[in-house]
Amino acid sequence: MPEPAPAPARAGGAAGMTRRPICIGLSLAATWLAGDGWRRPDSRVEDLHTLGFHADVARRAEAARLDFLFRPDALWVDPQTLASGPGFSSLDPMVLLASLAACTSRIGLVATASTTFGAPWTLARQLLSLHHLSGGRAGWNIVTSLDGARNFGQAAMPDSRERYARALEFTDVVRRLWDSYPHHALPLDRERGRYADPARVRPIDHAGPVFDVQGPLNLPSLPCGAPPLFQAGASERGRDFAARVADGVFAASPDVAAGIELRQDLRRRAVGHGRDADAIRVLPGLSLFLGETTDEARDLYRDTHARHDRARAIAGLRDLLGLDAAALPPDRRIAPDMLADPARPVRSRTHADLLRRLVERERPTLRTLLARPEVAGSAHWRVVGTPRDAVAAIVERVDAGAADGLIALPGGADRSLRLFLDEVVPMLAEGGRFRREYAGTTLREHLEPAQRA
Ligand SMILES: Cc1cc2nc3c(=O)[nH]c(=O)nc-3n(C[C@H](O)[C@H](O)[C@H](O)COP(=O)(O)O)c2cc1C
Repeated sequence: MPEPAPAPARAGGAAGMTRRPICIGLSLAATWLAGDGWRRPDSRVEDLHTLGFHADVARRAEAARLDFLFRPDALWVDPQTLASGPGFSSLDPMVLLASLAACTSRIGLVATASTTFGAPWTLARQLLSLHHLSGGRAGWNIVTSLDGARNFGQAAMPDSRERYARALEFTDVVRRLWDSYPHHALPLDRERGRYADPARVRPIDHAGPVFDVQGPLNLPSLPCGAPPLFQAGASERGRDFAARVADGVFAASPDVAAGIELRQDLRRRAVGHGRDADAIRVLPGLSLFLGETTDEARDLYRDTHARHDRARAIAGLRDLLGLDAAALPPDRRIAPDMLADPARPVRSRTHADLLRRLVERERPTLRTLLARPEVAGSAHWRVVGTPRDAVAAIVERVDAGAADGLIALPGGADRSLRLFLDEVVPMLAEGGRFRREYAGTTLREHLEPAQRA
């Protein structure tokens, strides 16, 4: 993997960071249709797989001058989950974001793509194509996937060690391929009839434990640099991987303490890998249920979650903690000795560890545990309130050293998205915490502190 240039290391918490403009992405997963959000008359759920639906969201996010759109992805669907909502049905991120590149001109376009399946050469080409077509606005959210093995000829998901070892090699190959055909190898000398300097377009000759890739890529790099890298997954291995390669981490941080711990740890690890601590931005998902009044916001949250699916939550507890809660009364307190061996394989170590720590700390009742977002596969920070409440919560987190920004997950209805873009973001800008105008045109320029204002 190409080592980042050594930089003066600065570790630590909020010091030197609090005045850096907040970095804001918006999830394109149409989170406001989740739960019962899609059932609202104005949800536009019929348009969910159209360009019009996404182009509208993208243009609104760009008008608010957000750093980037963020398209999560899954490589499987469980038909049972479709009974109550669109769940993981989704357009291919690369195709979707390439279409959105044509409808926007400034906002970054971050595509989730797994390293557990597929070939690095293909993905390197797709991402660099998106980078070209968008004028340097592509980003790659690197995931090791939670499921989907049977769609790729494998009986089961490889374990965490194997997935992250493969992720490191995969990412290394992609980055070297991006460098293999440098833009300065193209003199484009019309007079002499010389298009490229072939000596500068070099194979990478990679022969590793998993991949054999000769290269070079058949697409030149861009003068603005390679697509920035994002990552999600916060186990020991996930954190180490992020600290080596990621410019941004999509984090599940349900509370400030978890956020501070994760951010300090990632910054320390980044320094350990020869990077500047500020090179890695911790961006928790922020689930937002917004209203003009607190009551309106609470009603929206309650209506969206009215049909709480107990059976799904019980299955989540079984998967994450090895706890069989089907026959337990709701008031039963859950103690650590009721949980299975923490080292057993789970789909997401991040979510399992968050829940286990909660049980150790609070011995919650089963009712409380079933209501936790981690059980349903989410563990995001949540604000249910007015735009002012959201601004206060965001500033508090950033100033506490728990985040460098956020990835917004508006919930319940388009209203949450509208209030976030039209009120929360402008208030942050008025307070000097977010840009008023884009200073550059590429995603890297949006992310780099020196370029952001
Ligand atoms: C906040 C968060 C978001 C994630 N988003 C995705 C996603 O969109 N697609 C996907 O396939 N995996 C996603 N993952 C799964 C991770 O890439 C990873 O496979 C999983 O968390 C296991 O790694 P861990 O043990 O480090 O948590 C996500 C994980 C987290 C914590």
